[in-house]
This record gives sequence, structure tokens and C-alpha cells, in this order.
Amino acid sequence: MSHNTIAINQRMDKFDGHHRVWLFGYGSLIFKADFPFIERRLASIEGWSRRFWQGSHDHRGTETAPGRVLTLTPDPGAVCAGMAYLITPEVFAHLDHREKNGYLRLAVNINFDDGDSEEGLVYIATDDNAAYLGEAPERDIARQIAASAGPSGPNRDYLTNLADALRSLGKDDPHVFAVERHLAEF
Ligand code: BEZ
Repeated sequence: MSHNTIAINQRMDKFDGHHRVWLFGYGSLIFKADFPFIERRLASIEGWSRRFWQGSHDHRGTETAPGRVLTLTPDPGAVCAGMAYLITPEVFAHLDHREKNGYLRLAVNINFDDGDSEEGLVYIATDDNAAYLGEAPERDIARQIAASAGPSGPNRDYLTNLADALRSLGKDDPHVFAVERHLAEF
């Protein structure tokens, strides 16, 4: 099921007039930066956890057999590590299209690993979007990922690319690595 969020995101005016905006990436944006950026820095956001709870009907699955991709869920006290990109506002047109299946831009405080912080944006798929699949046992999530593929390739590659990227950055994520371990069973 698709739920096109492009028009809603284009109405987001929080950073209107800014020539540069920080974008926090926690999923595919970490390993697939297919857009121009001015600089990138290791960063994190507080109060959110990464979960494979969003359905993918357009990238890593199909309308009838959706894959599972990442979103963030509110989690007081949690810290989600990722990569922050400084981009120009024009880049959002590309990202809004790429992430149109339920993801909305949200303003967040981004903490850079080397010290300071800036307000920026993150794409989040909340539990009221049509493509949301929600919580499931991590083994079931791995089984669905193993069985899914879409126009952007096997869902399995999305998971392993992300896990490899987190390892190379020296970042832990118990949920991602647990699903990755279960993937070996399928
Ligand atoms: C990200 O990597 O930050 C991201 C994940 C899913 C949708 C959009 C962005």
C-alpha cells in the first residue's frame, strides 16, 4: 500500500530561507548518500530508536509482498547514532521523492560526535502511515526481509549494508544486529 508524502513534506516550512540545512540519516542515508552534500559528520539524536517497522512497497518489496525498512520509534533515554549531512534545500526534492512511502520530515536536535549540536531534519515514518507494519519478533522480521525484494534490490542487502556501515563507524545497535543474526537462519 502506498501513502505518498511528497505534498505534505513540500509544505514543511521550518527551514524556509535557510541556505543550508542539517539532515540526520539513520538508515539508508548512512550507506547510500545519492545526493550532493557540503559536509557530513557522525552524529546522534536522543529519544529515538531505530526499528524495522516500516513496510517497503516501492524499494525493497512490492505492493503484494512488502519488505521491511527502518523508521524511528520514540524511546525516552535512547540514543540513535547515524550520519548528519549538511545539504542545500534543493536536495529535499530528491529525498522527498525517494522517501515518499510514508516518511515525513521532522525537526530534531542533532548532536555531533565531536561536540556541538544543531537543529535539523530527519525523515520518520510514524505508526499512522498506511505502509506501517509495526513491531514483530526479530526472527519474524528477519524472515520477511530474507523473502523480500523490490526495485531497489533485495531487502537482505538493505539490512546487511546498514549493519556493515554501523560496524565500520563503530556504532552498536542491538535491534539491527539481532535481526542480522537471525537472517542467517533463512
Ligand atoms: C535515513 O536513513 O535517515 C532514512 C531512512 C528512511 C527513510 C528516510 C531516511
